[in-house]
Amino acid sequence: MSGVLEEKVVIVTGSAGGIGEGYARAVSEAGAKVVVADLDEGGAKRVAESIQGAGGDAVAVGVDIASGESCRAMAEAAVATYGGIDGLVNNAALFGGIKHESLLRGDFDYYLKIFDINMHGALRCVRACFRSMRERGGGAIVNQSSTAAWMPAGTYGITKLGINGLTRDLATELGDMNIRINAIAPGPTDTEALRGGVPGEVIDGIVSQMALKRRGQPEDLCGTCVFLLSDASAWMTGQILTVDGGHTFRV
Ligand SMILES: NC(=O)c1ccc[n+]([C@@H]2O[C@H](COP(=O)([O-])OP(=O)(O)OC[C@H]3O[C@@H](n4cnc5c(N)ncnc54)[C@H](O)[C@@H]3O)[C@@H](O)[C@H]2O)c1
Repeated sequence: MSGVLEEKVVIVTGSAGGIGEGYARAVSEAGAKVVVADLDEGGAKRVAESIQGAGGDAVAVGVDIASGESCRAMAEAAVATYGGIDGLVNNAALFGGIKHESLLRGDFDYYLKIFDINMHGALRCVRACFRSMRERGGGAIVNQSSTAAWMPAGTYGITKLGINGLTRDLATELGDMNIRINAIAPGPTDTEALRGGVPGEVIDGIVSQMALKRRGQPEDLCGTCVFLLSDASAWMTGQILTVDGGHTFRV
């Protein structure tokens, strides 16, 4: 899909590593100028430099999506550097190292924190970016959901179900501005965060039930992300695309 994002400016949150890093590289390879945004500023810098080293155009921006002010500063940095915003990938979330606590007895403040980052963080970024997209005549947003949205996966899964709802609802509000919003729901994808957070035998058990019997790699998700940002999906909005090796259709 080389060149399909030529002249576009795309922000990818949570792109200091894992899937987000894969998205940032793919978006750059498709021709876009990339804002590599993450709480981990050093990691974001490393990824942006590596994209530049490969001949791409990228800038690193530190952002905390738990703060509206920080999200607005991220959007302002994109506009100051590249003149505007055409695409936003809401990939940042609490996933690696997350504690899985009982909904009935777990720490309620922690429950609220996961929601604040995983769900409200995506909305904060949309609120910070949509005006620039509108000024440029439209844009495309990709939210990162998860197949966990359709499983009993505790607070994390519920936040991803919330992301699906946010995607559908915002599609209506943003449609009048020619801004599209869709989501990707990945299955188990082989990142440090997954390996550190879910025991290997649990992942292997899931993989054994999938049609394609392997973990996903970040690269397996990138084509869908670039497609959803590009004009090839110009009449698609409010959709949740599952990319999971054929796991959830069997459940
Ligand atoms: N790996 C999987 O199996 C899998 C499956 C489905 C969905 N997902 C989703 O994909 C995304 C990336 O997952 P990953 O496996 O690469 O995990 P990851 O933990 O490596 O990625 C999350 C990124 O978000 C950043 N981040 C966290 N809090 C932030 C904040 N407040 N502000 C800004 N950035 C923040 C982290 O620094 C990190 O770089 C997440 O949304 C996750 O829920 C992952």
